Amino acid sequence: MPQPRVVLKNCDVIDPKRIDSYLENGGFKALAKARREMTPEQITGEIKDSGLRGRGGAGFPCGIKWEGARTASGDAKYVICNADEGEVGTFKDRYILEKDPFTLIEGILIAGHAIGAKQGYIYLRVEYHYLLDHLQNALNQVKQKGYLNGFSLEIREGAGAYICGEESALMDSIEGKRGEARYRPPFPTTSGLWGKPTIINNVETLMNIPPIIMNGADWFSQMGTERSKGTKVFSVSGDVDKPGVYEMVLGSPLRELVEELAMAKNIKLVQIGGATGRILPGDKLDTPLAFEAMLGAGAVTVYDQSRDVIDIIHRTMEFLVEESCGKCTPCRQGTEVMVEVLAKFHRSEGSLRELRNLEALSSAMMLSSLCGLGQAAPNAVMDSLQYFRDEYEKRVAK
Ligand SMILES: Cc1cc2nc3c(=O)[nH]c(=O)nc-3n(C[C@H](O)[C@H](O)[C@H](O)COP(=O)(O)O)c2cc1C
Repeated sequence: MPQPRVVLKNCDVIDPKRIDSYLENGGFKALAKARREMTPEQITGEIKDSGLRGRGGAGFPCGIKWEGARTASGDAKYVICNADEGEVGTFKDRYILEKDPFTLIEGILIAGHAIGAKQGYIYLRVEYHYLLDHLQNALNQVKQKGYLNGFSLEIREGAGAYICGEESALMDSIEGKRGEARYRPPFPTTSGLWGKPTIINNVETLMNIPPIIMNGADWFSQMGTERSKGTKVFSVSGDVDKPGVYEMVLGSPLRELVEELAMAKNIKLVQIGGATGRILPGDKLDTPLAFEAMLGAGAVTVYDQSRDVIDIIHRTMEFLVEESCGKCTPCRQGTEVMVEVLAKFHRSEGSLRELRNLEALSSAMMLSSLCGLGQAAPNAVMDSLQYFRDEYEKRVAK
């Protein structure tokens, strides 16, 4: 079934280096409508009614976040676009930044108008340094044409740390501190960047704003499932013939994405949502891609029958131990212990007691870690124990 293009509609259609090409394709009409015809309250209401949820991983309702910042009191407010894209297997934001920076900027400016912010930042992961001039070129043209209208928008480069994609660590990083997760509450909508009301949204979330403002919440909410509206952009990689970026209506079956579009065969498992994401075995490909089940930021990594589950989980945990910021004990110590235990299973030196300990440790980390990294780090372990327990049991020392 052909999939609609909402987020990617301008990709490979406009020339991302020329604002005139964007304007010829309807660019900045949504911003004009938002500024001239809508009050901030109407905009946040429209976004709430659309059912748009954050595309950066947590799936938080966008309109509720904006409403919180709009009604918060503060002499300054900020909009942050999260372009850190550090999740393993994710490259859809990069694709968007390369092919349609103007819609993103338009989305940020609408967000600024909706919450009453005069300043914003695009936090660009340092590995995307090669995109800095490209983005700055788009921003300069937007400024020259007068669309900023007093709003100051700056690009800040990240520091090469996975944790700096986590919203509170990201704000520390912009403030010039070492990126570490903050205790919450207070939440960013009331006390974010420099203690001021702040909204932080993923690149893809902000790409949805101009089309929602132009076409209305009803148009948007007709696409998708009960709790997952609109489309989602997926980054598909691994054992597939056609890796790449695909946009699909939420609720579409995983099978359509990996087998029909990405042309995967003999699937053993699919990791959805990257290192902190979930694992599904090859016999569950009819699962709908929606927030109701699992999604994360939309990284879909396919592994075929030749792959070793324990090796995949061990490497996933090696990444997480390296990237844990170390501020809270459950994540700092928990990921270390998990790597040690998984290494033993990898060498076929595990024990049944350690299997039980892995489960207990997973629950403790999920309940007591400070941020999403530690809370979600055990996902892959837990899912692999659920679906591939026999592979662990085979690696128990004789
Ligand atoms: C360890 C960790 C890394 C994260 N990395 C990113 C990231 O690279 N990009 C992103 O948009 N969100 C990332 N997030 C999610 C953000 O904390 C936050 O939920 C998101 O920026 C909110 O925007 P959204 O509501 O539009 O999704 C990360 C979260 C965690 C716990």
